[in-house]
Amino acid sequence: MTEQRKATLRLGENTEPIEFPILSGSMGPDTIDIRTLYAKSGLFTYDPGFLSTASTKSNITFIDGDKGILLYRGYPIEQLATRCDFMEVCHLLLTGELPTDNQKQHFVNTIKSHTMLHEQLVRFYTGFRRDAHPMAVMVGVVGALSAFYHEAMDISDALHREQSAFRLIAKLPTIAAMAYKYNIGQPFIYPRNDLSYAANFLYMMFATPAEKYEPNPVIVRALDRILILHADHEQNASTSTVRLAGSSGANPFACISAGIACLWGPAHGGANEACLNMLEQIGDVSRINEYIKRAKDKTDGFRLMGFGHRVYKNFDPRAKLMRETCHEVLNEMGLHNNRLFKLALELERIALEDEYFVAKKLYPNVDFYSGIVQRALGIPTSMFTAIFAMARTVGWVAQWNEMIADPDQKIGRPRQLYTGTGHRDVPTDKINN
Ligand code: ACO
Repeated sequence: MTEQRKATLRLGENTEPIEFPILSGSMGPDTIDIRTLYAKSGLFTYDPGFLSTASTKSNITFIDGDKGILLYRGYPIEQLATRCDFMEVCHLLLTGELPTDNQKQHFVNTIKSHTMLHEQLVRFYTGFRRDAHPMAVMVGVVGALSAFYHEAMDISDALHREQSAFRLIAKLPTIAAMAYKYNIGQPFIYPRNDLSYAANFLYMMFATPAEKYEPNPVIVRALDRILILHADHEQNASTSTVRLAGSSGANPFACISAGIACLWGPAHGGANEACLNMLEQIGDVSRINEYIKRAKDKTDGFRLMGFGHRVYKNFDPRAKLMRETCHEVLNEMGLHNNRLFKLALELERIALEDEYFVAKKLYPNVDFYSGIVQRALGIPTSMFTAIFAMARTVGWVAQWNEMIADPDQKIGRPRQLYTGTGHRDVPTDKINN
């Protein structure tokens, strides 16, 4: 038997060293198991932003940020994006394996049997202002699903958890498309189960009762790829939010709503929308240098949206694939000479050559290209992050399920480094005032 490796911590010259086990995963850096640190030393660790902290064990997704590797259940994202569709990737993330043909058929049929919303939930939309941002509606409506699926649900039952996963994956496109329809004042379009997952979403977004609508296969394929590339991404901010919310045993629909709220921020999934807004703000190729200068100026809060990533410091493998799709779609739609797209491609070129961006390893991330692709597909900017949420739901629910099934699971409860006022007494003349 190999001996357990240990890390030794010495807090001072005359103190006894404290040992901690070193844990090895199947890939990636080893981790020091510091769970007993406080009991042994009275000290906490300080790692805001989790720069060096593994918050959990997981079997689902592996990232090597230096090498630009992303694996779902061991399979490289490049292979999944080119050889599989989103439904197969959902099956993989949820169960650990790609489906056989029969399993796929069964899975797809199961998802299709859950695409509709309860009519009372459909009426819930009318409570929102008509100009509400689709992400605000998504947070509300997905949270409200918990009111429909709560009493009868037992999260300790694996079948109940599986059922919640199917419902979430199936209903998110319907919820997102209805958020859009509500915003533009068109009637809701109910799902069509003869279409694929991506085609059905486009149908619910763009069809009207007045005209026939058949989704363009190029657009369907591009959207399917966006969904695959965004399906999971290890312990990112929104996934960690879902896990933390779920660690108390909360309703899974409410937990996913918490994940959607986190994803909305411009430093996370909101970046694709923020990136397109930035391109509109720059407006013309002649103004790129002005904005690059602003992005480098520490006194200016402006950042180049769609550039940089916490984990990928060489390249984002998803960005590489999305870049390919971006060129395919721009060619197919005859949009290479469109003002905004020319601006985006020129910004990409200049930033990739700029010393500041090169030195800080700030490359275009997946959201830079996915924003451009979605704009080319005719998807309104305000829907970009909602589509990201649709894609990431499978990742969130797979991670939530893994956590709940883990017998060692505990409620997440970080500690802090307190920097406020020390103990003080309320003046006695305040008593009974
Ligand atoms: N434009 C200009 N400068 C930047 C940018 C940017 N987009 N991103 C990082 N920097 C600079 C920072 O100012 C900082 O400089 P300093 O070292 O001189 O202080 C340095 O690069 C490191 O930046 P941090 O913010 O410390 O890096 P962190 O890993 O915490 O943040 C993040 C990563 C949030 C993605 C950041 O790069 C960013 O804000 N990018 C723009 C938003 C974006 O595109 N987000 C999408 C992420 S991908 C996703 O969610 C799918």
